[in-house]
Order: sequence, then structure tokens, then C-alpha cells
Amino acid sequence: MDIVVLISGNGSNLQALIDQQPDHHYRIVAVISNKPDAYGLQRAQQANIPTKVIDHQQFTDRNAFDQALQNNIDNFQPELVVLAGFMRILTDNFVRHYTGRMINIHPSLLPKYRGLHTHQRVIDAGDTEHGTTVHFVTEELDGGPIIIQAVISVTKEDTATTLAQKVQQQEHIIYPKAVAWFSERKLKMEHNKCLLDGELL
Ligand code: GRF
Repeated sequence: MDIVVLISGNGSNLQALIDQQPDHHYRIVAVISNKPDAYGLQRAQQANIPTKVIDHQQFTDRNAFDQALQNNIDNFQPELVVLAGFMRILTDNFVRHYTGRMINIHPSLLPKYRGLHTHQRVIDAGDTEHGTTVHFVTEELDGGPIIIQAVISVTKEDTATTLAQKVQQQEHIIYPKAVAWFSERKLKMEHNKCLLDGELL
């Protein structure tokens, strides 16, 4: 199954998807970044995957950017759009266009800690557990149906940096797994719920 990955930065999740691609039924046909200097673009080029930069700063408004992004994605005709550290809020029209075929990874145990700075917020709250969530993207920011989560424990020594490292290690396991399920047609979203092998998640 052809997939397009959207990034804004380092692209370590993209790297995990690239590395695990030979074991699965998905094929990354393009990597698109809204930032020209995203390191993930180099990772894609190393793997001979076509890249495209659509710099949001070149657009006067969010709708124009999202329309350009949509056109570029649809040129590749992917069956799944994978947000991997893509740091732009998407318009409702864009999100609706990809209903049931766009997923995201968020560094918290959703529904806790939507939005930014999740690791620091976990420390500030004194939580003993933290983690990461893969979910379908809906119009509600970080609010779509949950596909898979990984939990890590938080110790007194942890900082936002060590938590980010621990969380990312888990992300590199669960994100390729979720993409693999979708590409095997085991996973789908129906009526705002996730189904895996026909069972509600
Ligand atoms: C990940 O931690 C992900 O949860 C969040 O952004 C980060 C992206 O990291 N959405 P990378 O660019 O994949 O290394």
C-alpha cells in the first residue's frame, strides 16, 4: 500500500518507517515537509524516496497552504497519509478530505496532554506514567480514535529530555506497527471508532 509521510523536523519516526518497510506491506512513495531544513528530508533522500517541500511561509493563509499540500499529496495517490512530527494545525476541510486515511503520533497518553510540551507537563503534574499514542486524525485536535498506545514509567530522575528519548523509542515500535495493520487492511475507522480485525479497539 502506498503511503505519504508528512514531517517538519528530525524524522526519527520516518526513519523507523523506512527501516521497517521491508518487513511490511506499505511503501513510502513520498515525504513532504513544510520546513525546507527538516533533517527528515535527508533521511528520505538517503532511502531514495521522493521529497517535496511546501513551505507554509510562502502562503498567505492556512487554507491556501492546506490546498497546496492536499494537491501535492494527492498527486502521489496514497491510500494513507502518515503525520510524523508534522507541526502544523490542519484545516477542517483538509482533515475531512482524508477521513479514515490519515494517522498521527502524539507524545502523550491521550486523552491526557493534547497539544505541545507534553513531557514537561507530565513532570510538572508528578505523573508516574507517560507514553505515546497513535490515532486517526479527526477535526478535534489530538482527539481522534486511538489505535495503539505505549506506556513508559516516569522516575524522579527523569527530565523532559530523558522522557522524550524514552517515548521516542516506543514510538519507533508502535508507529510502524499501526501503519502495517492499516496496510494489511486490518485497521479502519468507522463512525469515529477504530476497528482492528473487525473488533472495536
Ligand atoms: C514525535 O515525538 C511525535 O510524537 C511528535 O513529534 C515528534 C516527532 O519526532 N508528533 P521525529 O521528527 O519523528 O523524530
